[in-house]
Amino acid sequence: MTSQYDAVYGDWQRDPEGFWARAAEEIHWEKRWDKVLDSSRPPFYRWFPGAKVNTCFNALDRHVAGGRGDQLALIYDSPVTGQKKTFTYRALTEAVARLAGAIEATGVRAGDRVIIYMPMVPEAVMAMLACARLGAVHSVVFGGFAANELATRIDDCAPKLILSASCGIEPGRIVAYKPLLDGAIAMARHKVGACIVLQRDQQRCDLVAGRDQDWGEAVAAATPAGCVSVNATDPLYILYTSGTTGQPKGIVRDNGGHLVGLYWSMRNIYGMKPGEVFWAASDVGWVVGHSYIVYAPLIYGCTSILYEGKPVGTPDAGAFWRVISEYKCAAMFTAPTAFRAIKRDDPKGLLIANYDLSNFRTLFLAGERCDSDTLRWAEDRLKVPVIDHWWQTETGWSIAANCMGLGMLPVKAGSPTKPVPGYDLRVLDAQGEEVKRGEIGAIVAKLPLPPSTFPTVWNADQRYIDSYMKEFPGFYKTGDAGYIDEDGYVFVMARTDDVINVAGHRLSTGAIEEVLSQHPDVAECAVIGAADQMKGQVPLGFLVLKSGVNRPDQDIVAETVKMVRDQIGPVAAFKVATVIKRLPKTRSGKILRGTMQKIADSEAYKAPATIDDPAILTEISDALRAVGYARGKMA
Ligand code: COA
Ligand code: AMP
Repeated sequence: MTSQYDAVYGDWQRDPEGFWARAAEEIHWEKRWDKVLDSSRPPFYRWFPGAKVNTCFNALDRHVAGGRGDQLALIYDSPVTGQKKTFTYRALTEAVARLAGAIEATGVRAGDRVIIYMPMVPEAVMAMLACARLGAVHSVVFGGFAANELATRIDDCAPKLILSASCGIEPGRIVAYKPLLDGAIAMARHKVGACIVLQRDQQRCDLVAGRDQDWGEAVAAATPAGCVSVNATDPLYILYTSGTTGQPKGIVRDNGGHLVGLYWSMRNIYGMKPGEVFWAASDVGWVVGHSYIVYAPLIYGCTSILYEGKPVGTPDAGAFWRVISEYKCAAMFTAPTAFRAIKRDDPKGLLIANYDLSNFRTLFLAGERCDSDTLRWAEDRLKVPVIDHWWQTETGWSIAANCMGLGMLPVKAGSPTKPVPGYDLRVLDAQGEEVKRGEIGAIVAKLPLPPSTFPTVWNADQRYIDSYMKEFPGFYKTGDAGYIDEDGYVFVMARTDDVINVAGHRLSTGAIEEVLSQHPDVAECAVIGAADQMKGQVPLGFLVLKSGVNRPDQDIVAETVKMVRDQIGPVAAFKVATVIKRLPKTRSGKILRGTMQKIADSEAYKAPATIDDPAILTEISDALRAVGYARGKMA
């Protein structure tokens, strides 16, 4: 099929509102919109104002009424517990209605916030949908975050209720969630009155009388709740993501635009047909999990897979192929890091031959830059198109992709292909001028952003403006740098801020620095993202000690590693730090993180003319060599 991409992108360019109004016809609205887009208060654009809708109805009830009641909606596959469960659309609707009843019984109403701090179990999916059913705003917190991170989110979104579980399971260890939950509630200034806690057989927990309810009992006693119709512009969820400081940003997603954008994406980007099986091997705690484990596949009438396991070690590097073949998966979506892990354990991909992948059409990768080795390896072994696409928590779906439903465009390694209809991308220099094709600059998207992107930051309109909209007026600053080539292909090269990407997880080096600087012996510190063969990047710490400290360096380093694990969580993967005498700075005092990163990665670098003391760079490179970095030949 020749690609219709240009024609469809052109349709959108000619009449963006008409384009999204047509896409919105696929959604069930309680009341239609007064207008497609309210642009009266830029940069705060609102899609489908005046419309009434319920996201859970569109994801579940609608399909039961439309004849999909007996089709599988959700497949839970958990190699870490040895469990598998399936839920038809009818069964999932009933379970969600009942859980919504239990949530409502705690006093939660439309607009109230509910935090979900759960492992990858079906109840986590039900919890999100049950909140959506009531019009309550959920905020899922990834299980790999520590109590302190959970407490920050509790204070920011002030939930009435927290839904949690007794434990999560990581290969080789059980992660007790309850002490983290109790610790966070104790730490937070906002007082949470109620928790519903799922007891898992792998490790049960004590409940706090008067605050905690047992999940099973609460659901058994509940009366099923119906769908509450909300404004299309009302928030569906808040998802916190890393910014430049330790204070994460609460990315808001609305109901109406989200439904329209995600529905459109399933057909046009992922090339799926309703009834097929779609698998996003991510976590419900990340945006990929929100959009493509939970909402999009269900809104579109597909079967979604919830996989509680890893690409390797549960039990081996054939785990993905087993799941794809067992459930006749048509498309899967994961991060390149998962494929690097598989490639490391099974370099020739021999395990693939053990499975029937005949239903598998496309592999989608996102979350970090896809290196060409990984792309080629996956293409050669799987013999299906491997599609890199670029997106962010802020957008909730792809900014650039090879839209498989519109007919595949040629793949260029290193590029997530072209802007998705809805995004007018430009590359700007520091003065806000467009650069020539092929030149690197800040990638920005012309406002308004399409449906399903973030209308604001929770309780922080000014932060929305300051962080994203101010630097290049009229444009959304993606925070990524890159270029667009002569053929219009987008290349995303690096972040322009201090966000790093560790195993597809987005982390802030600033947040890690805030923790390190709390160590009593640390006078100054810096954290950079150093290249890592498997995880893409890992955080690397530099510590300058206070004068007079004469404890062994390795003790101090070990203490800071523990502090980051305790305060941010294991997901920060902070394992390596080195003690140095001074940080390299410019004469105006700016830490030269970029130069330090280049040294760590053995890349060519030039000491900036503004550096206060060039000799320090040799010291940095010696210190890095001692901890396993800066090993290559440097220019
Ligand atoms: N709860 C508690 N701890 C968690 C966790 C969770 N939900 N998720 C991860 N962790 C822990 C891990 O156990 C690990 O702890 P450790 O330091 O004790 O080993 C730490 O956080 C770092 O995790 P991670 O960076 O994921 O590394 P890993 O070595 O466990 O796994 C991969 C590496 C590549 C296999 C894994 O990251 C992966 O599958 N990633 C790709 C898919 C993905 O999730 N993408 C995200 C967006 S698409
Ligand atoms: P997150 O908000 O966690 O989804 O992380 C978003 C960031 O991950 C982006 O701003 C990019 O820096 C990076 N990213 C995501 N997908 C890609 C991709 N396909 N190519 C390059 N970088 C990507």
